[in-house]
Amino acid sequence: MNNLKNKYQKELSLFETQRRHMRRLWNISQNTAELLYTFVKIKAPSHILEIGTSNGFSTFWLSLAAETCNATVNTIEVHEGRFALAKENLAKRDNIIQRFGKAELIIPELTDKFDFVFIDAGKINYVNYIKLLENKLNDNAIIVADNIISHKNTVKEYLDYLDSNELFDSVTLDIDSGISLAVYKKK
Ligand SMILES: C[S@@+](CC[C@H](N)C(=O)[O-])C[C@H]1O[C@@H](n2cnc3c(N)ncnc32)[C@H](O)[C@@H]1O
Repeated sequence: MNNLKNKYQKELSLFETQRRHMRRLWNISQNTAELLYTFVKIKAPSHILEIGTSNGFSTFWLSLAAETCNATVNTIEVHEGRFALAKENLAKRDNIIQRFGKAELIIPELTDKFDFVFIDAGKINYVNYIKLLENKLNDNAIIVADNIISHKNTVKEYLDYLDSNELFDSVTLDIDSGISLAVYKKK
């Protein structure tokens, strides 16, 4: 990972400055970003979806991993300011499609089927996102969700849904804010 961090030192230090000086970005930790990168490399998906772009920090890491397997990253953000900031931060990346608006409205319009999804937007809505996504997932799709431990009450319905649905197998990882890792298996 150090080679990558050296190569993209300029971009990563800009994200670090924004993380320190701007409020309400809610970026995942560096540790979680590297884990996400590794998950994508293991999975080698074709189509990646992120819900919750913020200023594009996690998107940047998804994009770096996507480059290794020629994947594209669709990412959704509802806040105008953060969407615009991400646009600037990600201007040099050519495998990202940024979508502006509410994920609940955009997901039904997406025509791709996804192999890897990262959920990191409104915690109360995680369960709605997964329900909307179900017919947009390829067999063996991986779904990663953040803030599973930090917001455990708010995301309970999401976890209960994964547990009660035989199409998903999932596990919670006690890393940083807590990550849920799920795999979707079509019958
Ligand atoms: C935790 S932040 C995302 C951080 C980002 N993944 C990162 O690590 O750099 C959550 C983002 O989701 C956005 N969001 C919240 N509800 C949303 C919705 N319904 N649709 C799309 N974006 C939403 C917020 O505006 C916020 O920027």
